[in-house]
Amino acid sequence: MANVKVIFGSTTGATESAAAEIAAAFGVAAVNVANATADDFKADLLILGSSTWGLGELQDDWAAKIGLLEQADLKGKLVAVFGLGDQSGFADTYCDAMGILAQKAKERGALLIGQTSAEGYGHSSSVAEENKLFCGLALDDNNESEKTSSRIGAWVETLKHHLG
Ligand SMILES: Cc1cc2nc3c(=O)[nH]c(=O)nc-3n(C[C@H](O)[C@H](O)[C@H](O)COP(=O)(O)O)c2cc1C
Repeated sequence: MANVKVIFGSTTGATESAAAEIAAAFGVAAVNVANATADDFKADLLILGSSTWGLGELQDDWAAKIGLLEQADLKGKLVAVFGLGDQSGFADTYCDAMGILAQKAKERGALLIGQTSAEGYGHSSSVAEENKLFCGLALDDNNESEKTSSRIGAWVETLKHHLG
């Protein structure tokens, strides 16, 4: 059985519930980054989730614990990211925090999986997007909460394929 870890940061609970749904699909419990230790960053597949706050910033608990990711040895490890944001209220910084996590994981040598199409979203710009692809799963419980569960379900299936 592959060792899957889901680590999230969440201020008002939206990312926490997405993390719980993702973790349940792998039969594990999600870890709040506020309580995470270096050991939590050791996994066959590491799934990291953050909402975006301020203007394009990491969620507070992630900001406080970002050293754990910056020091993790992720060489050749599978990492996937997800983010919660508001594509209409914060169209210029939609899910930026997910892009920040992806960038840091890549800097540590991770193999990033789980990119998704950015078609059909109403944002105008995001550091999590390149060539019409998000670096991970972009969710929006402010405007499209009805799509969250199906987006998670499809995404989890693609991640499971990578695990073999
Ligand atoms: C003050 C404030 C700033 C925000 N800034 C952004 C932002 O820059 N980009 C974005 O996509 N969403 C932004 N959001 C939306 C939140 O990321 C969104 O509500 C998210 O679902 C919160 O998730 P959480 O409850 O897990 O923290 C902001 C929300 C607030 C209240």
